[in-house]
Amino acid sequence: MDNQALKLLITVGPTKEYIDPVRYISNDSSGKMGFAIAEEFYNQGVDIVVIAGPCQIKSLIPDDRIYRVVSAEEMFKTASQWFDWCDVAIFTAAVADYRPAFKLDQKFKKSSTDFQISWIRNPDIAGAFGKQKKDNQISIGFALETENLESNATKKLVEKKFDLVLLNSPNNKGEGFHYDTNRVAFFDKNRDIQYHNLKSKKEVAEDIYNWLETNYKLLTPVRTI
Ligand code: C5P
Repeated sequence: MDNQALKLLITVGPTKEYIDPVRYISNDSSGKMGFAIAEEFYNQGVDIVVIAGPCQIKSLIPDDRIYRVVSAEEMFKTASQWFDWCDVAIFTAAVADYRPAFKLDQKFKKSSTDFQISWIRNPDIAGAFGKQKKDNQISIGFALETENLESNATKKLVEKKFDLVLLNSPNNKGEGFHYDTNRVAFFDKNRDIQYHNLKSKKEVAEDIYNWLETNYKLLTPVRTI
């Protein structure tokens, strides 16, 4: 790293994939973990860009540092504009893997018959960044798993070329969506694994910042924007 402010791109929250003007598929991501990380890095003086899906978190991050998006495609398009700019990308967003093949212009009217929606794959934002990232860029992702926790986390680490994956699971109370706490395990690309206790999301954010400091010897950053 040179002696400039560290630059962080972070994706946060869920995405919504609309079926018609009033109906959508989404998930329970609250955005709490992502905004906790964004605030920790912002408070450390890092230049940040937050790409946030629909969520209601109040934060200290200035509005002009937050890009509000709705769908996975929009999140991908907006994040892509910042891939080259960032030193570190952290992917906390719970991106919908599929979207309806068509969005109806008008509200869908029920009838007496069943109907089917065909779904198409959404872009994998972290995966795309993994393919194009330069040697000096660092990529961190989350793996929220309900089964085969360790092997799924390792698979994501490799497939998306993450430098670090934070494994967590909604199976246990206090972990994952909506809670103010989380229990994560750090899986790094050198196959080092650190299991952490249940902590506040703010403490998990501090642990991520400290992991970067320890492993990449980041200089104390000075924000320029
Ligand atoms: O959904 P999945 O379990 O594969 O998510 C693992 C990681 O990849 C997370 O960090 C998530 O933010 C990211 N991801 C993404 N774009 C997707 C799906 C997941 O950036 N379409």
